[in-house]
Amino acid sequence: MAGSRDLVLILDFGGQYTQLIARRVREQHVFCEVIRFDTPADAIEARHPKALILSGGPASVYADHAPVCDASIFKLGTPVLGICYGMQVMVRALGGSVAHSPAGEYGKTPASLDTSATLFSSIPPQISCWMSHGDRVEDLPEGFRISARTATCPAAAMENSAQKLFGVQFHPEVVHTPQGTGILRRFLFDISGCVGDWTMSDFATDSALAVRTQVGSARAICALSGGVDSSVAAALVHQAIGDRLTCVFVDTGLMRAGEGDFVERAFHGRFTMPLVRVDAGERFLTALCGVTDPEAKRKTIGRTFIECFRQEALAMENVRFLVQGTLYPDVIESGSPVASTIKSHHNVGGLPADLPFTLIEPLRLLFKDEVRELGRTLGLPDDLVDRQPFPGPGLGVRILGAVTAEKVRILQTADAIVERHMRLAGWYGRVWQSFAVLPGNRTVGVKGDERTYAYTIALRVVESSDGMTADWARLPFDLLETIAHAITSEVAEVNRVVYDITSKPPSTIEWE
Ligand code: XMP
Repeated sequence: MAGSRDLVLILDFGGQYTQLIARRVREQHVFCEVIRFDTPADAIEARHPKALILSGGPASVYADHAPVCDASIFKLGTPVLGICYGMQVMVRALGGSVAHSPAGEYGKTPASLDTSATLFSSIPPQISCWMSHGDRVEDLPEGFRISARTATCPAAAMENSAQKLFGVQFHPEVVHTPQGTGILRRFLFDISGCVGDWTMSDFATDSALAVRTQVGSARAICALSGGVDSSVAAALVHQAIGDRLTCVFVDTGLMRAGEGDFVERAFHGRFTMPLVRVDAGERFLTALCGVTDPEAKRKTIGRTFIECFRQEALAMENVRFLVQGTLYPDVIESGSPVASTIKSHHNVGGLPADLPFTLIEPLRLLFKDEVRELGRTLGLPDDLVDRQPFPGPGLGVRILGAVTAEKVRILQTADAIVERHMRLAGWYGRVWQSFAVLPGNRTVGVKGDERTYAYTIALRVVESSDGMTADWARLPFDLLETIAHAITSEVAEVNRVVYDITSKPPSTIEWE
């Protein structure tokens, strides 16, 4: 990246914390990217990384088809830090041995560090660290020394400082390893020579340049939804190609109440690119008629969305690119080479193969909080940048089963009530997301003296830092009561409100 001298590449072996490693590195103002575990060494060398990090992973290095890296990466002279499975991969590649441990280690574990080791020279000798492994290193490769132990793991860390190769069996990237940031800083700055000068405005400048080069003299359209991601993507591409970008707001009919007007207000006067508003609510409802399976709904919405774009784009000349605000977690959850697919995200998995555009996804390396920072850097207003995330398929994944016009109207009304009261109580900005779900069941109730048989609304409020994991929010009972009362009073078709108290995992944030 121009303007930044540091690049760290993280080889992804499918570990649950790979994205967290990337966040921790970028928090140190060092730019990093997650790449496939099997990227050839010459392709890695060609990018001149300052350091490599090998992530953890669910496999055993001796399992059939266990992911392994190109062993030549250890001869590049680039510092390497192997974490958990990444350390075991290094051991195996360099001639050491790994075996199934008689006692695996999971959770917080005390470890003794050798502070004469290069990696730990500025770290206290006794630390608490986060372990999650069943295999352990038995024999070190030649030239390595043990640099940490725990009660059951004799090689909890190792290093060959002459060759700048380091391994830790524990996870320095998680908060349960309090000294983890210090260890990563030591590796990045003292050992690998990173400078830590990467900023969001570097990212904006570099990305705008890359988009300008890619688009050339053609035109692009952007799928503007009013959410943070597409708005920031549009602002970035607008910076790159000005009014050769046309923003298209497809009102799927599955959006929050009043969304179209909000989008027009937010963009009007701030940017010079044309904004086209397409009212496609009927079209989406027709396409969704009778579709009840969550994955089929996601794919139907994604397909219909692209069809609307195709129509708009065909009416314009020279449009070859489609800008989307796809984020890192969307990319990962839609299936990394080694992680399993959880949901087909609208922005990625739902796209048909015959897409006539080349996709531009300028945010695909960023996490949500980074996108917000980028939005501010690009001059977007706070009320837009601080909006809670809203999924591409919209209310389509919050109405369980078949989507109908009536259900959309009920959910939009209930959802607006949730947002209003979350804001009034000062909770809207304190949580990751707060919204209403319509499970579609009816229960018996009583309103006035009348028996009712009406819908239930589920309230979903979660705290999260990136949407990858989430905890249900401990809202005050009074606020829950206010919301439940407002919904059952203002929405005639609802007589019951329940609160979802599950975290992710085992559930997901959205219900479908
Ligand atoms: P889940 O339900 O997978 O959601 O725990 C994680 C985060 O992603 C959002 N989400 C989506 N965002 N397209 C998007 O742009 C999608 O298809 C999609 N599905 C879920 C969700 O709102 C939460 O913030």
